[in-house]
Amino acid sequence: MNILVVCLGNICRSPLAHGLLEQKIGHKHLIDSAGTASYHVGEPPDHRSIKIAAKHGINIQSQKARTFSTKDFELFDYIFVMDKSNFNHLLQLATSNLQKKKIHLISNQNIPDPYHRDISAFEEVYQLLNQATEHLIKEYQLS
Ligand code: 4NP
Repeated sequence: MNILVVCLGNICRSPLAHGLLEQKIGHKHLIDSAGTASYHVGEPPDHRSIKIAAKHGINIQSQKARTFSTKDFELFDYIFVMDKSNFNHLLQLATSNLQKKKIHLISNQNIPDPYHRDISAFEEVYQLLNQATEHLIKEYQLS
């Protein structure tokens, strides 16, 4: 399967989800991430996401931010988003029911945007995403 995780900037939350999924199921599936906004295109993840990932044994330094493209609806089987705002954004870009059905919230609670908060918010996001990815691997039988 091809699995895409999406947030707003593709520098805080989705790089962590990308790293977690690569660690857990990257040997079986293609994992990528993208943002709905293009403010940070070409940049590595936020230094706080890099630090928290490293603390948990995951290296995300070589990731590069990119913007979600409507081509991603063709390339990916599952598209997991961090919050309702990402969900609604992608829903508006989808042009068929098949595309709409590929979009899923990564968790039944929004993964809060940590960008304007301190490092503890990044640890919180990591913990939420660690749980959410475990759950979705079981729910979608990806292990
Ligand atoms: P992310 O966090 O969506 O988790 O990557 C953000 C990063 C940057 C901005 C907003 C959210 N920004 O406004 O630049």
